[in-house]
Amino acid sequence: MRLAILGAGDVGRSVADLASEYGHEVVALADSSSATVDSSGIDVDSALEAKLSGGQVGEDDPETVFDTDYDVLVEATPTTLDDAEPGFSHVKRALEADRHVVLANKGPVAERYEELRALEADSAGSIRFEATVGGAIPVLSTIEDSTPQAVTAVRGVLNGTANFILTRMAAEGLDYEHVLAEAQDLGVAEADPTFDVDGTDAALKFVILANVLSEGGFALEDATVDGIQNVPGSALDLAAEDGQTIRLIGEATREGVRVGPRLVPENSALAVTGTRNIVQIETKNAGSLHSSGRGAGGPETATAVLSDVGRLPEL
Ligand code: HSE
Repeated sequence: MRLAILGAGDVGRSVADLASEYGHEVVALADSSSATVDSSGIDVDSALEAKLSGGQVGEDDPETVFDTDYDVLVEATPTTLDDAEPGFSHVKRALEADRHVVLANKGPVAERYEELRALEADSAGSIRFEATVGGAIPVLSTIEDSTPQAVTAVRGVLNGTANFILTRMAAEGLDYEHVLAEAQDLGVAEADPTFDVDGTDAALKFVILANVLSEGGFALEDATVDGIQNVPGSALDLAAEDGQTIRLIGEATREGVRVGPRLVPENSALAVTGTRNIVQIETKNAGSLHSSGRGAGGPETATAVLSDVGRLPEL
């Protein structure tokens, strides 16, 4: 497939870097001028440039992407809420041109799911979005393979930053503010980790899962969300006395989405440590399916994008 990548952060660059390993060609890599802080053009290093097939590479203008001859638009611009722009318009434009779209951007899938599916219904192209949930863990393809109708609920830990903070608080008896600063120093947490610690990032992922189970009907405003900012170190100490710990757990069902700090047994599968994620898919007839792994990061998320590309039909 010929890939046009919009969004040149860690994920977009990693897709560009790894595409040839998966047998695909990158014909464009551009940032969205409205979504980048640096509009001076993308500095593509020589190692990456050597892997790209030419075309429009290193531009800061999304128009350059739409001008190329591509099969799949990879939408990897930053997630935005509410109207999910400019990501939604990028997807619309590609589908209206009968191209496929693979999203790493959570906004359009969480906030405008039904509109996306309506656009897809009128297009020769398809949308896929494995990279929006759980990074490298094949969550949506597992649901697809199990058939969404046979899945009753999905629960788990889908934010690595919050999990890292809770793990460190419990292990070292440290307070939230101290560990958050450490996570930022280590580059685990973003400079602005608000959506990670207040539960928004995890909630967006569970809203996407609820939309997949119900064929739409959910947006972030429908989710009940609590973050980890108010979890005191003393709560983790008390939990540990009882063989338990606290994790930011989410759940998506056809009834709704909930995310918040919950007590879990220290030896339970849900008590993953560090930046790992875990997903438990509850099925009607086959019990629970568990997957755990790296839920964030450029190469990790890029593998989900490229696995989606591999599942697309020829146009
Ligand atoms: N910031 C997220 C996390 C990854 O810490 O898990 C992107 O959704």
